[in-house]
Amino acid sequence: MKKIGVLFGPENTFPGALVDRINSLEIDGIRAEFVHVGGVRMAAPSGYAVIVDRVSHDLPFYRSYLKNALLTGTYVINNPFWWSADDKFFNYALAARLGVDVPRTVLLPHKQLPPQITSRSLRNLEYPLDWDSIFHYIGFPAYLKPHDGGGWRDVHYVRSREEFFEAYDQTRDLSMVLQAEVAYEQYFRCIVVGQSDVLIMPYDPGRPHEQRYVLDHRLRDKALIRKIRKSALALCRALGYDFNSVEFAVQNGVPFAIDYFNPAPDADLHTIGQGNFDWVVDAVARLCVRKAQARTPLPRMRWSALLNGALPKARKPRAGKAAASKKPAGKAIRSSGAARD
Ligand SMILES: Nc1ncnc2c1ncn2[C@@H]1O[C@H](COP(=O)(O)OP(=O)(O)O)[C@@H](O)[C@H]1O
Ligand SMILES: [Mg+2]
Repeated sequence: MKKIGVLFGPENTFPGALVDRINSLEIDGIRAEFVHVGGVRMAAPSGYAVIVDRVSHDLPFYRSYLKNALLTGTYVINNPFWWSADDKFFNYALAARLGVDVPRTVLLPHKQLPPQITSRSLRNLEYPLDWDSIFHYIGFPAYLKPHDGGGWRDVHYVRSREEFFEAYDQTRDLSMVLQAEVAYEQYFRCIVVGQSDVLIMPYDPGRPHEQRYVLDHRLRDKALIRKIRKSALALCRALGYDFNSVEFAVQNGVPFAIDYFNPAPDADLHTIGQGNFDWVVDAVARLCVRKAQARTPLPRMRWSALLNGALPKARKPRAGKAAASKKPAGKAIRSSGAARD
């Protein structure tokens, strides 16, 4: 019997539905259940052919457990090694290298030193920073956000130098990026499963958290949808994620990739709606079964391709043109989503 395990945190709808869906397929030799784990012996098999990880970003114990599980033959969705290594700034750079449109982005040193660090550790760091050149490259308005963020935490919208410094002063010892605003006419969130299936959902970030998915919208612009699908797949394939969400802000018909570091994407029935929920549950259930049945379940480490010069030539990034905006200045935008979105 091959077991598929689901490891999850506070979410209520997706994990149970996934287990039920896999079991309802009634595939010989395959059963799904919630993962059960205690003290973990090194190099001991987990007992699962596949584990779907929805929570290890919040609990380092789980991340370590999953690395051990992968070592001993479990296929983990998503790969815990790559998830640990990845960050949003790298993601933006990767998009630029892949030829996916992405807003101009700069990585900034921490505003405050992390604990235990003294100025002796900073002798390689330019001081003061060349703010004029950074602001000239990015322009205003812009977004100041953590380089590995999630759930809209510590995301600041800034319209001027003054607002930038006011926001930057609040960023503690976080590593932040400054990114040109895309003054979008449309916004989409895509769930990508198995690096092949793409669900494109119109999304309105201006609405309250639980109403952001625009459920009554029909997707009409075929060329735009094709482009979004192609870019979402290119990003997830390059990153090696099996289950991810990719956000695009569309300006003048061009989809700019905004956030695709969501390896436990929001899949809650009450936010994405019944039709989307059924799609995601079914697609992930079938992916788990495929992985459980695969003869060699262990993944190829895709990022090695990034290191051997296999990427296409770099392209100059296009960027969102600054536009007047009604959004509040310099304010942190928050949401209470449990999944990492
Ligand atoms: N460059 C940008 N242009 C326009 N809107 C942005 C930009 N960056 C972030 N946002 C807005 O802020 C929200 C949160 O930013 P995001 O990068 O998705 O962070 P998180 O990982 O915390 O969700 C986005 O959903 C979008 O509404
Ligand atoms: Mg996001």
